[in-house]
Amino acid sequence: MATQAHVALDESALEALMGKVVTDLGAVASAPLLLIGEKLGLFRAMAGGEPVGSADLAHSTGTQERNVREWLSAMAAGGYVTLDPDGRFRLTPEQVVAFCDEDSPFYALGGFQLFTAAARMETRDKLARAFVDGGGLGWDQHHPDVFSGTARFFRPGYAAHLVDEWLPALDGTADRLRTGGSVADVGCGLGHSTMLMAEAFPASHFVGFDYHAPSIEAARELAGKAGLGERVTFEVAGAADFGGGPYDLITFFDCLHDMGDPVGGLSHCRARLTEGGVVMLVEPHAEDNLAENLNPLGRALYAASSLVCVPASQAQPVGRALGAQAGEARTREVAAEAGFRHFRRATETPFNLVYELRS
Ligand SMILES: C[S@@+](CC[C@H](N)C(=O)[O-])C[C@H]1O[C@@H](n2cnc3c(N)ncnc32)[C@H](O)[C@@H]1O
Repeated sequence: MATQAHVALDESALEALMGKVVTDLGAVASAPLLLIGEKLGLFRAMAGGEPVGSADLAHSTGTQERNVREWLSAMAAGGYVTLDPDGRFRLTPEQVVAFCDEDSPFYALGGFQLFTAAARMETRDKLARAFVDGGGLGWDQHHPDVFSGTARFFRPGYAAHLVDEWLPALDGTADRLRTGGSVADVGCGLGHSTMLMAEAFPASHFVGFDYHAPSIEAARELAGKAGLGERVTFEVAGAADFGGGPYDLITFFDCLHDMGDPVGGLSHCRARLTEGGVVMLVEPHAEDNLAENLNPLGRALYAASSLVCVPASQAQPVGRALGAQAGEARTREVAAEAGFRHFRRATETPFNLVYELRS
């Protein structure tokens, strides 16, 4: 093994690195505890913001006091619950938003569900093999929590921005949908983006496509419960072979970079647009230059991309593997290869870039 044993260590750099390592160890061990807190209703029972002791919390949630006391201590050490001077615990309004309000764009537990499921032992072994053989790891090879965690992670952001900001940022599109348009939502997963659009534009028709059959089944069930009727349908199909149309709008929410052949998918879309139709691409926020992405968000997304997005693309024909931090320049390149002459960053949030593509 090559080492640098002869090189003197910078004590303060080592101390800083170890501080970071301990912080991260705490984060890794806290992730399942957050999900246990969600599952058992521990956060929910504290949503009112009243201070509670471990015995009260255990009693009201039907759990064991000793386990709950240790959980509260771990959460308080992480800044996820607040310790009062009298030894009781409470949630601040910000902690309530992060851990109790599933509709808030700041809700955190969908992300923890996704990341812990993507990092589970069985998947790690398969991924390690994929790093060696280059065959990738298909979306379908993951634990079901990856699919529902993804949906719960992204839906609140779509609910906050899609109808009020992103669609109006595309020239003329919201007007078209108000009078009655046709929309394909490609790589729709559990279909929350499709359903949010359908609820907002009752005169239009929406079809969600995804190549992952269990996600489409779940989307159909959710749409049935939402009572959206015939206006929303879901079909199993890949980005390069979905049918129907022509469409006034074709959307991709956080999925183009997961696809093996994003150029093939976008070329197929170009052929299925109406005259004047538009493709909306929603991708994770990233700069073109790696060094500018080396921040907490970039860290989370490069990690998720290494675990899920790049291997998912590699498992498909072509295997372009754009990665979740593809950035505008590479996305523009892919759109141009697919024949789109018009490419514009229509709008953005701290988490997403929204592009408008036209022939
Ligand atoms: C990160 S998830 C995003 C799901 C959904 N759009 C959302 O925002 O919640 C990526 C989705 O892309 C789908 N996908 C990947 N490759 C695909 C392909 N070639 N054709 C259609 N869907 C694909 C996956 O099945 C998965 O549902």
